[in-house]
Amino acid sequence: MHIGLPHDASLDGFRIDRLIALGAAIQIPLLIILALWLLASVKLWGPRHAAVFDRGSVRGLRPRLAISLSIVALGVLVAQDAISWAQSNRDLDGHFWNFAAAEADPRTIRIEVNAHQWAWAARYPGPDGEFNSKDDALTLDDLRIPVGLPILIELTSTDVIHDFYLPNFRLKQDVIPGRVTRITFTATETGAFEIACSQYCGVNHYKMRGLLTVLPAEDYQRWLQLASANSQALDDPADRAAHWGWDWQAETPRP
Ligand code: CUA
Repeated sequence: MHIGLPHDASLDGFRIDRLIALGAAIQIPLLIILALWLLASVKLWGPRHAAVFDRGSVRGLRPRLAISLSIVALGVLVAQDAISWAQSNRDLDGHFWNFAAAEADPRTIRIEVNAHQWAWAARYPGPDGEFNSKDDALTLDDLRIPVGLPILIELTSTDVIHDFYLPNFRLKQDVIPGRVTRITFTATETGAFEIACSQYCGVNHYKMRGLLTVLPAEDYQRWLQLASANSQALDDPADRAAHWGWDWQAETPRP
């Protein structure tokens, strides 16, 4: 059994973990204090305690103390929310949603993903660097990327709403018919990682599972050439469903 967050294999995943840790650091002590307070109250003011209505008694909590404690608790919660909000915005603008930086980087690997019930179809530009051309490499439930390079994926769906989920990269993005959404990230280690669908999308939702393999850069290049050649050999011009690619959308729609 695995307890805790999934292994993080990404450059920016720690930003999500940091946010979760901050929330836990404040809320777990708060939960313990509240639980102890509740138990103490049950013990002190149980059935054997005579119910006497009074104000400012020794055993009852004094109003001034109650107000002070409430202000402290409110201050802690407001501070936590303010820090989380500011940090989240900085992380989104600077990293998770910084598509402009990925577009500008000449090393960026671009991939198109077309989700459908119940699989992830992927398209890589072949040696010509263009999407939707004859030398595209096509895969099913099998994404491969090089380690250490920025990855930019554009996603759409041909049927219902799916959700592209990479737990080991702390990424989740809705995949919506009729529009293109995107994610960007960088893998920091090689290995095989799960792609899950995180949106209920029909009876076989649970089967909508793929594999993301992170390879050393040279292995990736070799694999891509092979995949491109294979896809060209298998290409059937009459199979319209297989030609689902689109021209890369360089404009950055704000998610
Ligand atoms: Cu696709 Cu759930």
